[in-house]
Amino acid sequence: MTSRRPAGWPARATIVEVGLRDGLQAERVTLPTATKLDLAQRLLAAGLRHLEVTSFVSPRAVPQLADAAELLATLPRRSGVEYSALVPNAKGAERAIAARVDAMVVFLSASESHNRKNLNRPIDQSLADVAEVMRIADTAGIPVHAAISVCFGCPFEGEVPLSQVLRIAEELAMLGIGHLSIADTTGMATPPLVRERVEALRARLPGVRLALHFHNTRGLGLCNVMAGLDCGIDRFESSIGGMGGCPFAPGATGNICTEDLVFLLEECGVETGIDLEALIEAAKAAEAAVGHPLPGQVMKAGPRLRLHPLEAVRTAAG
Ligand code: COA
Ligand code: ZN
Repeated sequence: MTSRRPAGWPARATIVEVGLRDGLQAERVTLPTATKLDLAQRLLAAGLRHLEVTSFVSPRAVPQLADAAELLATLPRRSGVEYSALVPNAKGAERAIAARVDAMVVFLSASESHNRKNLNRPIDQSLADVAEVMRIADTAGIPVHAAISVCFGCPFEGEVPLSQVLRIAEELAMLGIGHLSIADTTGMATPPLVRERVEALRARLPGVRLALHFHNTRGLGLCNVMAGLDCGIDRFESSIGGMGGCPFAPGATGNICTEDLVFLLEECGVETGIDLEALIEAAKAAEAAVGHPLPGQVMKAGPRLRLHPLEAVRTAAG
């Protein structure tokens, strides 16, 4: 049944699982490295091939991810599996190379205020840091992707002008970035904004591959994914169970949930290569690990055709 896929949508989409990074950085508890490894193995078993597993940032800023090197040393290496990690500066790049990451992700914000909160410097200084990271990564032969935070609105400044997103994206492209993630850090994106920004970025930077990174803070996460699919985007970042949130943005809540995203895509005829039942088990393991309910919905309800025995529910006899 291929006809169920809406016109213009990609036949296949890549999911980048960011739960081990974006998810765990927002958790109160710091998980042991062995628990992170167990979650990674479950995600791999479910079919995920792109995992953003940690950050090489200041361990004082994000203590939950201070075991970045230890985690990368224990993760199983397989061909076709990419472990990426956030890298803010030269020191992070050196640590990431020593830990043998498959790809570095440089990041900065589309608003000055969020960039200062998140990276403790102005945007132009962060662009200089990105250039330095790229020089170091290039020497080591490691690919560098980029992410721009708060592309659809800033919790400190409000509207973020499209021109500002385009300027930063262009600077990154000039530095040689080929993969760019457009992030909605605090759930301020809406479908019309997604269409506007994706179309403008596509027109300005036709050679750059775009990914979309949404948070479900205002309940529009998957609606925004659908707007992205309408524009032909085929790479999305999501978090197992819907864990997540930026510690340096007020009110930030979970990423869009990986199981819910896979459910949407597969039901709409977009292939993901991911086993939903295995993913649901991974989400339950993540929930047990963090010790509180996660917002994912398919992990609670199960796949669409999960049946229940008649005798499991009482009959509403009057
Ligand atoms: N890894 C480990 N330590 C680092 C580091 C890195 N990548 N970068 C800097 N540091 C250490 C320095 O060695 C220094 O340590 P010392 O005081 O013991 O000598 C200290 O951090 C301060 O260094 P400085 O370069 O002045 O950094 P800063 O205080 O201006 O902070 C960042 C800048 C980028 C390190 C910090 O803001 C950060 O880690 N931000 C990441 C935030 C994040 O991950 N947000 C979530 C993702 S959206
Ligand atoms: Zn995020």
